[in-house]
Amino acid sequence: MAKRLYEQLGLVNTTEMFKKAMAGKYAIPAYNFNNMEQLQAIIMGCAESKSPVILQVSSGARKYANQTLLKHMAEGAVQMCRKDLKSDIPIALHLDHGDTFELCKSCVDSGFSSVMIDASHHPYDENVALTKQVVDYAHKYGVTVEGELGVLAGIEDEVKADKHTYTDPAQVQDFVKKTGVDSLAISIGTSHGAYKFKVKPGESVPPLRFDILAEVEKRLPGFPIVLHGASSVVQEYVQMINKYGGKMENAVGVPEDQLRKAAKSAVCKINIDSDGRLVVTAVIRKVFAEKPSEFDPRKYLGPAREELKKLIVAKNTNVLGSAGKA
Ligand code: G3H
Ligand code: 13P
Ligand code: ZN
Repeated sequence: MAKRLYEQLGLVNTTEMFKKAMAGKYAIPAYNFNNMEQLQAIIMGCAESKSPVILQVSSGARKYANQTLLKHMAEGAVQMCRKDLKSDIPIALHLDHGDTFELCKSCVDSGFSSVMIDASHHPYDENVALTKQVVDYAHKYGVTVEGELGVLAGIEDEVKADKHTYTDPAQVQDFVKKTGVDSLAISIGTSHGAYKFKVKPGESVPPLRFDILAEVEKRLPGFPIVLHGASSVVQEYVQMINKYGGKMENAVGVPEDQLRKAAKSAVCKINIDSDGRLVVTAVIRKVFAEKPSEFDPRKYLGPAREELKKLIVAKNTNVLGSAGKA
């Protein structure tokens, strides 16, 4: 059989990754990237820790980096991994939060191995119809599809009170059956960004709704579940940002022990973007503060890349459990 487009780029879809993650009780890391240094750090960190990885691109990232360049960056990253790092870790290229059929199709057509159609903010029947349309197209090309049910709370929402944003477990079987999705993102109390919970300093954050996750697992045994908004907002980097001139007050994320617990369940993919942004910002701020005369981008982007690589090794090893699984 002729090689699929994404296979020609050295990529894999998420089918095997999720099967192994489910059986091995760990989660595949999905790290967002927008530029070369982030991409290098992700690949180097995952090669070093021998972890499978999902390289994740939002529509904003596609606009920022240019969609043509981005595809070749991912292809180049695979080659760097194989030839220079001598690593054969499985690598998927995934569209994060695709919001239209056209965007998903464009990614399938340009070599992505996986796409997310996020129609969770639409009424249920529209979510089903749009998700199915993407699945029908993507599956013709072997590309796996992530759907979403339930809407992640934003910082402006009261996570504890705003119950209706959580995934309704009663819908999940019907949704998966009608759409044919390969994985399902659910809403159990996480949110995007660096301000996930409204808590006062010293107060602990409300626990994730593991009861909803358990209900979903019961209704969809062995089916891959995805957790968005899963940055821990590592306080070491928040403090570094604030120390060197930044202003991030009450930035809090999901505690690592809760993510470890999720990774051992049917959660097979854990999305992390904000933690990487914090590391990069913290290190650049430190270099600028300590060496105000420095003006070579390599002298601040290089250390930021190195620290991001360390964070990725630590996440894969201590949180996701994906280290050594490639
Ligand atoms: O879920 C959102 C991701 O963190 C991507 O964010 O749309 O700003 O690139 P972005
Ligand atoms: P964070 O903002 O918690 O990193 O979440 C990222 C995400 O869900 C990307 O889809
Ligand atoms: Zn997300």
